[in-house]
Amino acid sequence: MQVATSSGKYSVKHYPDTVKEWKQEGNYFYFYTTETILEIRVISDKIVRFRYAADGTFQRDFSYATSEKMEDAPICFEIKEFEEVFQIDTDAIKIFIAKDNLRLTITDKEGRVINQDEMGFHWQSYLQKGGKIVYCSKMIQEGECFYGLGDKPTDLNLRGKRLENYGTDAYGYHKDTDPLYRNIPFYYGLHHGIGYGIFFDNSFRTIFDFGEEREDVQSFWARGGEMNYYFIYGPELLQVAEAYTKITGTPELPPLWALGYHQCRWSYYPDTRVKEIAAEFRKRQIPCDVIYLDIDYMEGFRCFTWSKEGFPDPAGLIKELSAQGFKVVVIIDPGIKVDPNYAIYQEGVKNDYFCKRADGALMEGDVWPGKCVFPDYTNPRVREWWSSLFKSLVDTGVRGVWNDMNEPAVFELGTFPEDVRHDYDGEQVSHRKAHNVYGHLMSKSTAAGMKKYLMPNRPFLITRSCYAGVQRWSSVWTGDNVSSWEHLWLASVQCQRLAVSGISFTGSDIGGFIGEPDGELYTRWIQLATFHPLMRTHSASNETGFNQEPWSFGSKYEFVVKKFIQLRYQLLPYLYTTFWQNAAYGTPMLRPLAFVAQHDPQTHNCTHEFMFGDALLISHVSEAGMKEKEVYLPTGRWYYYWNDKPYEGGQLVKIATPIEEMPLFVKAGAVVPNYPKLQYTGQAPIEEMTLQVFYDDQPAHSTMYEDAGEHYGYKNGQYNVIRFKQASDKQQFHLKKKFHGNYEATYKKHRVCVHGLPFTPTEYVVDGKVFKLNARNFAVGVVKVVLDREFEDLIMR
Ligand code: GLC
Repeated sequence: MQVATSSGKYSVKHYPDTVKEWKQEGNYFYFYTTETILEIRVISDKIVRFRYAADGTFQRDFSYATSEKMEDAPICFEIKEFEEVFQIDTDAIKIFIAKDNLRLTITDKEGRVINQDEMGFHWQSYLQKGGKIVYCSKMIQEGECFYGLGDKPTDLNLRGKRLENYGTDAYGYHKDTDPLYRNIPFYYGLHHGIGYGIFFDNSFRTIFDFGEEREDVQSFWARGGEMNYYFIYGPELLQVAEAYTKITGTPELPPLWALGYHQCRWSYYPDTRVKEIAAEFRKRQIPCDVIYLDIDYMEGFRCFTWSKEGFPDPAGLIKELSAQGFKVVVIIDPGIKVDPNYAIYQEGVKNDYFCKRADGALMEGDVWPGKCVFPDYTNPRVREWWSSLFKSLVDTGVRGVWNDMNEPAVFELGTFPEDVRHDYDGEQVSHRKAHNVYGHLMSKSTAAGMKKYLMPNRPFLITRSCYAGVQRWSSVWTGDNVSSWEHLWLASVQCQRLAVSGISFTGSDIGGFIGEPDGELYTRWIQLATFHPLMRTHSASNETGFNQEPWSFGSKYEFVVKKFIQLRYQLLPYLYTTFWQNAAYGTPMLRPLAFVAQHDPQTHNCTHEFMFGDALLISHVSEAGMKEKEVYLPTGRWYYYWNDKPYEGGQLVKIATPIEEMPLFVKAGAVVPNYPKLQYTGQAPIEEMTLQVFYDDQPAHSTMYEDAGEHYGYKNGQYNVIRFKQASDKQQFHLKKKFHGNYEATYKKHRVCVHGLPFTPTEYVVDGKVFKLNARNFAVGVVKVVLDREFEDLIMR
């Protein structure tokens, strides 16, 4: 039987028959049916890869997602053969493989089902386009929720939805638009308190159905390539998130300035306008570290050129901005203008660097410069060339690069036609296989170039499109959003989802890219973005002349916006520590409530709230005119950030939401490090590091990480990890501090501010020495003391 559909003719579905033979080679197991092979690779006690060759031959084992650092570390595993099944046990899970159809059941050690195949592996021949459509289907367990999949602009829990990955220039997308820019075929399942993940490493168009077609079946498939997925056991969702980065990698630490505030617009033009903007920030004392140059800085949108009229002296401009503490990030798109007099075009044609159509013509299409050709980043030779082009930008003073339009976007066509050819690191494939990695590899080679030429400084990268694993070299933003309240909500959901999909360094265009926010919307957006790893205002106001800077909405809003950007800068040591947790362990910086309290079903569908790092719970204001908001607090004790009022978790609380405040809670027991007020990072050496400590009568641990915030000294041990333990009781506050490391910080003092003490102390004891507290040590709700940086033990009683 053949079935005709809009996208070609498929054959009937095929299913595996019985296992005829099997063998083990180290931590690999092979099960042979009449025509097919299942390979099971035990990577660790909690990570197992399943690969299925539907025609009996495996394809090249190659991936642009996996990190070079991934190692197989199966502690201990064994296989047993029974009458109807094979059973592979690791230290954490049991995998049952049915002999008559290769269907899998995966349980924990206690035999509780984590994940179970419905039809399991199956496939169809893709008659018209070649290759196979490869499927896997699984049972949905009772009460199961699904998360992940990158940037999908929809509810956090994906149950009941069908979504796909095929990077798209989704200008002005809205709730439920699919697909968007990024391709992250990784999802989580959660049921009965058990969390697991599935990463389907296939770069063809992939589709995920979470019970949309059949209520109790979850399936995923790709329009080509191989069924090749990693199963990751938690049971905690955060453990799954961390294990996923064992496969796809974690970032290096960014320069600290990249965690400051970024100001962008399409476009600040000419250079005098850029200088005005910079001066305005300093005049109004609104902190800012980064200014962007959008496409108009180039000569006729030719990449790696500067407009002679608008930017006659780019090095001079950047030097002047740098003296005021600004870093410059410039946009670079993949489209290279077809222009015989343009060196990059000439070089690319001469060396055969550009993508071609099936019959050998260059792939041509219109983007900003008019007719363009496009480098084939799947070719290592092209990646190397592309990397080398960044030398001139770095020599001019540029510190970061923004890669855009790399889905790739083409005006008349949307994207490349499927017949376009790609090298795919020597494989020679059509665009069907390369589409989802095009922007990924563009940003990879951009990052490699920037890193090389900026050495010893750290680069900053931001890309619009990518595949799984991009976190190793770039940040992302959510693309061309709209100035609306719905989009403020979307920004929150998308950033949370990206963070649990491996990409923590993410943010949205604050205020919306398309359209004009009013002061209230802009201010609420700034409040949310204060707690996004990437904090950037951007707008497409080049035609209307509308301004979208922190001071554009009148003094009432400017005051609040400034207060939040200042708060961002004060929190930088906390943000940086949270980034380090992500870089070192893969812990997402943004954590949906379901990821911090998965045993509490109240959190499973919660979208308005998330944790930023270990200590801060954010519930942003998402409607115009909102006077109060209900916030769900997970179990534990919390303090309201703005007045230190304590709350018991496990309940909904009503919080007033005047424009100057956004619901923000701190976990009891936390130590939150703060910088003094800054206009930009590195403005002056930090002389005092404040520790905001929130009392708890239960033992509580916190960590702070610090290094130079620039350079790579941290890779040679020049960093500090400071561990805090609160061991307070009802009569005394007790903070212990343990210092590890050998980075020489500039500050010599800690100002310790203790919040929420249930008693009024009269004295404090530092490393055994007793001091009296006096009126100067007390502020509203806070007891503060200034101590030497070396202190190890503080008691207040
Ligand atoms: C795309 C980008 C946007 C940028 C514009 C002009 O629409 O998504 O951020 O400003 O192109 O370069």
